[in-house]
Amino acid sequence: RYRDSGAGDKMNPFAEQEAWEEHQIGKATLKYGSKDRKQKSDDFQFVFEDQIDFIKASVMDGVNFEDEVPAESLDKSMEKSAFEKLQEDRKTLPIYAYRDELLQAVDNHQVLVIVGETGSGKTTQIPQYLHEAGYTKRGKIGCTQPRRVAAMSVAARVSQEMGVKLGHEVGYSIRFEDCTSEKTLLKYMTDGMLLREFLGEPDLAGYSVVMVDEAHERTLSTDILFGLVKATRSVQSAWDLKVWTASLFVDMDPYWLILTSQDIARFRPDLKLLISSATLDAEKFSDYFDSAPIFKIPGRRFPVEVHYTKAPEADYLDAAIVTALQIHVTQQPGDGDILIFFTGQEEIETAEEILKHRTRGLGTKIPELIICPIYANLPTELQAKIFEPTPEGARKVVLATNIAETSLTIDGIKYVIDPGFCKMKSYNPRTGMESLLVTPISKASANQRAGRSGRTGPGKCFRLYTAYNYYSDLDDNTVPEIQRTNLANVVLTLKSLGIHDLLNFDFMDPPPAEALLKALELLFALGALNKLGELTKVGRRMAEFPLDPMLSKMIVASEKYQCSDEIISIAAMLSVGSSIFYRPKDKQVHADTARMNFHTGNVGDHTALLKIYSSWKETNYSTQWCYENYIQVRLVSPYPVLLLLFIDARMIVQSSLEGALVRSMKRARDIRDQLEGLLERVEIELMSNSNDLEPIKKAITAGFFPHSARMQKNGSYRTVKHPQTVYIHPTSGLAQVLPRWVIYHELVLTTKEYMRQVTELKPEWLVEIAPHYYQMKDVEDRVSHLCNLVVSMLLRLLDQRKCLAVQDACLRIEL
Ligand code: CDP
Ligand code: MG
Repeated sequence: RYRDSGAGDKMNPFAEQEAWEEHQIGKATLKYGSKDRKQKSDDFQFVFEDQIDFIKASVMDGVNFEDEVPAESLDKSMEKSAFEKLQEDRKTLPIYAYRDELLQAVDNHQVLVIVGETGSGKTTQIPQYLHEAGYTKRGKIGCTQPRRVAAMSVAARVSQEMGVKLGHEVGYSIRFEDCTSEKTLLKYMTDGMLLREFLGEPDLAGYSVVMVDEAHERTLSTDILFGLVKATRSVQSAWDLKVWTASLFVDMDPYWLILTSQDIARFRPDLKLLISSATLDAEKFSDYFDSAPIFKIPGRRFPVEVHYTKAPEADYLDAAIVTALQIHVTQQPGDGDILIFFTGQEEIETAEEILKHRTRGLGTKIPELIICPIYANLPTELQAKIFEPTPEGARKVVLATNIAETSLTIDGIKYVIDPGFCKMKSYNPRTGMESLLVTPISKASANQRAGRSGRTGPGKCFRLYTAYNYYSDLDDNTVPEIQRTNLANVVLTLKSLGIHDLLNFDFMDPPPAEALLKALELLFALGALNKLGELTKVGRRMAEFPLDPMLSKMIVASEKYQCSDEIISIAAMLSVGSSIFYRPKDKQVHADTARMNFHTGNVGDHTALLKIYSSWKETNYSTQWCYENYIQVRLVSPYPVLLLLFIDARMIVQSSLEGALVRSMKRARDIRDQLEGLLERVEIELMSNSNDLEPIKKAITAGFFPHSARMQKNGSYRTVKHPQTVYIHPTSGLAQVLPRWVIYHELVLTTKEYMRQVTELKPEWLVEIAPHYYQMKDVEDRVSHLCNLVVSMLLRLLDQRKCLAVQDACLRIEL
């Protein structure tokens, strides 16, 4: 298409233009409600230089780097210059000019909303400024990130900037991986981890500052954190706090009951709360936190020309590729790189292949086009590539997921191509099904994406949709995750924090009542809540595990079936994800045979996972064994440790060493070890019963009984509750066996609705294990068939709204 139409033609569709407003540069505006107040910067150079000298001195002594790199590669003069370069870079960030004012504002207000462009230095600098200003003397500074990759990469970057070893003064904490120590002062963590910390420390006593970063992403955990910190903070008087904490912990921890009013009055006003966001609609955050002041860091955004297509594009992947090639051949290579937003790994891989194929045909006259994919599961070595400077005479094209929208800053981008889609989680409260769907992005997202092109100079953004689409079809903002997700986990956490009245919890945007009820219903079915909605002993134990409630229930139930040893191995393997096996293109048959070996006897996928783990353990966790069995030993875990190889060569050495050690199976082992620790904490003995599969399957059923399905004709299955047609995933060991009854771990929607990780079960177990959920008629074929008929007839008769209620009612009718 590109060659047929000639280079210039494709540009024509982008007729409409829109210039971006250049933001005010050079003035900090501190906004209090509607009043603006401008403040003059004071000179703080001196204090800061002092700090640097101090850090430099310790670096020169070799104190901080001792075990990071082999001694011979520690060239002191190089080290000093790399460090100095980092310090210079810090001073070029937009936020640097407002350091003093920011510190002053933090000093004056307990809650501060901070707004600034991506790349202005919020995440890396603010915690350091606060540290330099002495906040860490009173407690840690915590900074939350919605993405694990971001938490890790930023922590690594900040540790470099401070000249300390990662995990010492600067650390990070993500689920199943705690890279902090007693020394840690600046702690980067996922928002989910801070949420878990609330469980142990509901007043966040260990922190002097909590910064909820990337707040505009409005992830589920961020939203819940908002509610919790607001509650914590709004406890003004000591008496309030006493009553509040007492109500939380009346049956948990007597320590809270004896807090004296003095302790609290002294401590609470000290906790600083920073909400930082990359988008300008900060008023909403401010309103929520009782008109907290907004601190704006003027960005250095250059004007961005926005182009739309004249007509909608039928194939955005192809349109994106054509546009990229067009830019590449018509514009000077030194002029700037290209960033394309895709929805996921598959799309990126396809685009990469097509691009490679087409550039091959371009001949030598056209400059080199370096293709750099970036998505969370990409091996670390390859991820580093996107941050390497583009060689002269070449151009880089970065194929990214949403990860490049605000979490990562890639320098040198001048052209952004935005097809207008992303993958988003959606949840159907009726069926309890969660799925990832390709969805149009919001206007806010589109503007963020466009902004990526104007960081270092004027940029261009090519939107592969029409201006009409943009103005009339796109929502203003992305719907917060809390309104489109399964809430079971959150409800369990909140319940274990003693927050009973969920309908009146102060959510920034409340979740749909139906989703809340569904979550309560599931937790009740799992036995985590009693009829009054109170946490049971089972629920309390479940809440200790940082896992989905169904998985936690499976573990807690393993006590009864005396197979906790096996069950935690299965849970660990399930948590690693489905990418344990690999299939090299030239050895697919061998790989498939190796995989099927674990399925001999049609034991089911859960047991196969257990077999893999135990066999690996028997070989004393051998890497060779993994190679022989085509099991991932390469880095495919969602922990691309170090995207962070920005500047420092030493870091690269260290990163690739660490990267090579992070392996899927090793990760399963780590998770398993942690689960073993948690078992001890909830006082479940480690018991093994490997000769008998039935108890293991029963324990799985005890957690996953809502996920049962019965075979219909043609190899399809019908889920028992909320009937729906599903299939066994082709990678399952049972895909050819097709047992009559199965239980599945999860549903994934690709070409069809597939069940992944499937195990055979006896239908009577459902009634035995979950008598409150299943009755004999559910598992007897004829009657439930009749029930289904009645339901589908009624569904046809009634309008959509009433259907839900009627269907539920029908399922409960005693036929
Ligand atoms: O949080 P915000 O988007 O405001 O900026 P930041 O993440 O603090 O990034 C500030 C600068 O640090 C950017 O120019 C990045 O290029 C750089 N950075 C880096 O080099 N390596 C990282 N892992 C993170 C940021
Ligand atoms: Mg940031």
